[in-house]
Amino acid sequence: MAGLAKICLLVVLNLYFMSIVGGAAKKKENVLADKVQQLMEWSNKKAMIRMDGNKFRQFVKAPPRNYSVILMLTALQAQRHCSVCKHAFEEFQIVANSWRYSQHYSNKLFFAMVDYDEGADVFNALKLHEAPIFMHFGPKGKPKKADTMDIHRVGFAAEVIARWIYERTDVFVRVFRPPNYSGTLAVALLFSLIGGLLYMKRNNLEFLYNKTSWGVGALSVVFAMTSGQMWNHIRGPPFMHKNPQTGQVHYIHGSSQGQFIVETYIVIFLNSAIVIGFILLNEAGKMKGDAGKKRILALVGLACVAFFFSLLLSVFRAKYQGYPYSFLIK
Ligand SMILES: *[C@@H]1O[C@H](CO)[C@@H](O)[C@H](O)[C@H]1NC(C)=O
Repeated sequence: MAGLAKICLLVVLNLYFMSIVGGAAKKKENVLADKVQQLMEWSNKKAMIRMDGNKFRQFVKAPPRNYSVILMLTALQAQRHCSVCKHAFEEFQIVANSWRYSQHYSNKLFFAMVDYDEGADVFNALKLHEAPIFMHFGPKGKPKKADTMDIHRVGFAAEVIARWIYERTDVFVRVFRPPNYSGTLAVALLFSLIGGLLYMKRNNLEFLYNKTSWGVGALSVVFAMTSGQMWNHIRGPPFMHKNPQTGQVHYIHGSSQGQFIVETYIVIFLNSAIVIGFILLNEAGKMKGDAGKKRILALVGLACVAFFFSLLLSVFRAKYQGYPYSFLIK
């Protein structure tokens, strides 16, 4: 009799535990389904889900997950002075939208972002001290080293982000860039301007043979390119830098890895002043007649070259710390 009671008790207990374990599994399944449904709802509305600390902990960090999240950690507020962040954000958005409107769009992959001013706790939890950062959170476990994209090495063009996502998740996102007509428009405008000018001057095309105007045109292109206008266009640096603590204004970026917009104008100015100096020297050599005038012109040219070249060199020294040579000005 006692044996039967024991067996009965065991069976009852067993059933009880099974129901607990089964219930827990069921609950877990429900939690996951709810999470996926919620993420899908957000993602349908907006390709990139904006998260604060709570959403990050619930949907990105905490298990259970059966999806990947590509998370951008950034600082878009103007007072953070992160111009790279804005550019990276645009590229990230292109990838997120490409995924959102792709044929293979599914609940396997989500795009999310945390702005520093809405989730500083996330930055602390991940021990991040810079922005922007791209991280991958897979369906299982914690992110490894390769789950943080090395943007210092590969950059953050949308195509590069997509390739990195493919490496981490096996999901291929075909990047679709919205067409940008502003470049085409500018070229068309330029051509119609030139066309109009030629048409108006059609009876007098002498100016086409003018060496000086061609020289000025060529020099303008050279100055624009050597001063880093293209770099400005691509990287979008700030105009200049004001130190928020001391209020001191910097016009020259202190390292060779960066530059400010105003700095490129300073470089254009110095370069053209040096070129003008050389032109004066050249003219002095070619000039006929009055020797006194020739000498003055030559001296002015020489002074121009020496003075502005030494200024240029000191700018260079400020950027390449440890460069040993200087000229006139320290
Ligand atoms: C993840 O789990 C949920 C809930 O079970 C399911 O609806 C969804 O399809 C799963 N996602 C993937 C990518 O398997």
